[in-house]
Amino acid sequence: MNPSPHKTLLITGGAGFIGSHVVRKMVLDHPDYLIINLDQLTYAGNLENLKDVEDRPNYTFLRGNITNESFLEDLFSRYSFDGVIHLAAETHVDRSITDPKEFIRTNIVGTVNLLNCCRTAWQDPADHLFYHISTDEVYGSLGEEGSFTEETPYDPRSPYSASKASSDHLVRAYFHTYGLPVVISNCSNNYGPNQFPEKLIPLSIHNILHMQPIPIYGKGENVRDWLYVEDHAAAIDLVFHRGVRGRTYNIGGMNEWKNVDLIRLLCGIMDRELDRDPGTSAGLITFVKDRAGHDLRYAINATRIRGELGWKPAHTFEQGLQKTVAWYLTNQDWMERVTSGAYKSYYEQQYGNR
Ligand code: NAD
Ligand code: DAU
Repeated sequence: MNPSPHKTLLITGGAGFIGSHVVRKMVLDHPDYLIINLDQLTYAGNLENLKDVEDRPNYTFLRGNITNESFLEDLFSRYSFDGVIHLAAETHVDRSITDPKEFIRTNIVGTVNLLNCCRTAWQDPADHLFYHISTDEVYGSLGEEGSFTEETPYDPRSPYSASKASSDHLVRAYFHTYGLPVVISNCSNNYGPNQFPEKLIPLSIHNILHMQPIPIYGKGENVRDWLYVEDHAAAIDLVFHRGVRGRTYNIGGMNEWKNVDLIRLLCGIMDRELDRDPGTSAGLITFVKDRAGHDLRYAINATRIRGELGWKPAHTFEQGLQKTVAWYLTNQDWMERVTSGAYKSYYEQQYGNR
């Protein structure tokens, strides 16, 4: 353990998709910080995502649930956190439609539990920061034109986005009511290594590999704005260090794709990588029943973070997608383990059954 870290940061949800990239970046780029990764290791969290940094002296993993108040109170009594980067959440829209309650518990109640611990612990708010990682889905659905700015009114339409909107409101309420130092960023769709193969891109890669149907909801005309996950992690580092307290930053790729066009592009890459005849993967595309309340289009206006903090994505979509496909092809065993549930025994081997 780092004997006298310059900062002690709590990162929640660090074993998940985006969280693992944020943890890695913070551990490697800030060796003078102590990074505590708190994660419950739900089906979406996996310590294999952090194997390359798990032995670093400035990194500690703790298993725990943000819905457990007494666990959090004990944690905050043991560590003096300078900042919290809060990513832990239930994140899959389709799961929220089937079972909204877990989304309320983790995304709303869990966030309030963390806010309360920070409020109690941070007597001098000036030196601290609670950074809430949120989503563009809180703004609702766009038509053919326009994009979400930080001033776009909230209009969440799925249980997932309603739970994230609720937690954003609570974070802002703690800023206005108690003076808690907070910042929020709302990001568009991420893609890249370590994403659980239930989301569109890794699910499609998985199914193409196994010559299984690629389910496209409705007519595939819904539009998402895709950002490579490492570019999001870089933006998070920047907002954490330079973001203005009480402010919101939209983060997005300026990279809109209709689902069906994106999947056709991916199919072409997969055919080449797998040495299959052109058109083989596209032949797996299957139009299925639409998602309930399916938002038509998301697009981010990232002018504020670009202008104020100088952030821009480092990856083009072609580069990011190529890197993503290469990662999934190299890590097919990861994909099989996380979808089979074997990662649970991986955890138990490493850390015991606690
Ligand atoms: P993910 O589903 O891959 O990972 C979530 C992590 O949180 C997992 O490691 C899980 O074990 C952990 N977790 C879940 N419930 C917990 C609980 N009760 N206590 C402690 N840990 C818990 O998620 P992701 O896609 O990496 O998203 C991370 C954050 O970024 C979320 O807050 C999400 O809303 C937000 N976000 C995601 C995207 C995206 O495209 N994936 C875009 C914008 C914002
Ligand atoms: O916009 C940010 C959000 O992006 C994050 O806040 C969420 O956590 C993240 O899950 C993601 O939400 P989406 O619903 O946009 O992502 P998903 O990968 O589930 O779906 C992307 C698009 O593809 C969406 O229009 C639904 C469609 N889709 C999805 C799946 C899983 C399909 O057509 N078929 C599928 O099998």
